[in-house]
Amino acid sequence: MARTILGISALYHDSSATLVVDGNVVAAACEERFSRLKHDSSLPVRAAQWCLEQGGITIDDVDHLAYYEKPLKKFERLMIMQLLHFPKSFKAFQRASMLWLTDKLWVRNNLVRELGIHPSKILWSEHHLSHAASTFYASPFEEAAVLTVDGVGEWATTALWRGTPDGLEKLHEIHFPHSIGLVYSAFTAFLGFRVNNGEYKVMGMAAYGEPRFEEEVRRVLILNDDGSFSVDKKYIKYHYSATESYTKDFEELFGEPRFPGSHFDPTSGEGKRLADVAASIQKVTEDCLVGLANRLYEETGLENLCMAGGVALNSVANLEVLTRTPFKRLHVHPAAGDAGGSLGAALWAHNEVLDGARGEPVNHAGLGKSWTHEQIGEMLKDLKIAHEDIGDDLCQQAASDIADGKVIGWFQGGFEWGPRALGFRSILANPRDVEMQDRVNEKVKFRERFRPFAPSVMAGAESRYFEIPEGAEQPIRWMLMVVPVKEDQRPLMPAITHIDGTARIHVVEKSANPAYHSLLEALGEKTGHPIVLNTSFNLKGEPIVSSPVHALATFMRCGLDVLYMGSYRIDKSQMRGLDRVGETTE
Ligand SMILES: [Fe+2]
Repeated sequence: MARTILGISALYHDSSATLVVDGNVVAAACEERFSRLKHDSSLPVRAAQWCLEQGGITIDDVDHLAYYEKPLKKFERLMIMQLLHFPKSFKAFQRASMLWLTDKLWVRNNLVRELGIHPSKILWSEHHLSHAASTFYASPFEEAAVLTVDGVGEWATTALWRGTPDGLEKLHEIHFPHSIGLVYSAFTAFLGFRVNNGEYKVMGMAAYGEPRFEEEVRRVLILNDDGSFSVDKKYIKYHYSATESYTKDFEELFGEPRFPGSHFDPTSGEGKRLADVAASIQKVTEDCLVGLANRLYEETGLENLCMAGGVALNSVANLEVLTRTPFKRLHVHPAAGDAGGSLGAALWAHNEVLDGARGEPVNHAGLGKSWTHEQIGEMLKDLKIAHEDIGDDLCQQAASDIADGKVIGWFQGGFEWGPRALGFRSILANPRDVEMQDRVNEKVKFRERFRPFAPSVMAGAESRYFEIPEGAEQPIRWMLMVVPVKEDQRPLMPAITHIDGTARIHVVEKSANPAYHSLLEALGEKTGHPIVLNTSFNLKGEPIVSSPVHALATFMRCGLDVLYMGSYRIDKSQMRGLDRVGETTE
């Protein structure tokens, strides 16, 4: 009999569900893709129901539900920290009490009530254990050192592990409030971006700056010779405030914070100072991760490193970790943030609690819901949308459109697991067009001009364009490493080359995404370059599209030229009254 485990992560941000059968991931999805609320933190009822549907089972067939953390331990940490910092923590205490006493503390009851699971089937993992399991058990490595780094779980903010066929052994743990993730988030807030959402913007902005505040950052985040670190509480507030993360002393070090939403130019004046602050926290974060990884190597002597936790989404730091430590290979879980907790909890339960045989590594990101050719066709017919079914010409036609300078929507297979669009729900364009970055930014994505786009490149062709270190095969499959663009290629691909000459690449293997691979192959035949600009199929502030209806609605509200859903081609110039939509939304 197959052993079936439903993993759940919820109630912080990016709730998700994962179905694991006999140690293999069958389905995994974030709740936001169903609810359309970005970073939705509610109990992932819709995602869980879809996972069960995908597995062809009901909740009664589930052997165990694995929850990704221990809510009582988390509550204990909140209460202790707030009592220690009373009365400064009074407002946060009130807020936390409301949230926890009405909802978060009753996770077991809510899981039973909302999902219908029998309470005896619930297993409770720990937050960092779930992160560790998500990256180790989904990786191709039999043995690996494992580093998990995030804001905070129950108490841990950082943990070092040894992963072997015997399981995950915890070697060290660093506790709240000493947290790289929360310090990075404090800088995210200081730089005027939303915490738990804008951290990648800080990383992008860092490329415009010089780390001239490095010494000041090191006063906040103190790095020790043994690889450990601590945070000077004089500069932070996040341990007793729910709304503010840094103090006046912090502002004295770095100057005026940026007002959220205000315009800034990272290349001059005040904007340059902010970019220098971003470069400084980025540099210290990299040094901190390198220190932790070196410590882990010294203790384990293993050649493979697996990483997870929100900080592992820092694709610039991931290059530093691989190249500045003796590790030979790096793997980062595609959903390294808290969404990945559901997958990790389920794999932990299978491999460690139930002592099951290890399943296959996760090979592709399209673990979410898909729609059939018939379903998409019916929707287009019902909505009277002009379209053509181009059948086997899909990749040739899409490649021609891209080569002709069109910006296309690409909707194929199941939606992606994790925050990146990896060729299942992507917006694609020609990266060798000098105007393409501005065009996609202003007419399609409506986002900040300083942020570059990422390229997808057909496996085997990546070293024509990029300098890829050995051992990066895994992170570049998941778009989780930034690497240098070869110098002679930089002027030829301005849309995907960042200001510092790097790119966040995505290498596409046929086995991971056959349709996308074929598209790149066709593009290579037409233009000589099997490479495309790839950005997520969503508008600013919205989750990536999930269904054909979301894709169509997004297509109509922006300046995309053509939409491909399965083998259906929808050309905006053929849609009366809609051909100028993108130009009216600026
Ligand atoms: Fe986490």
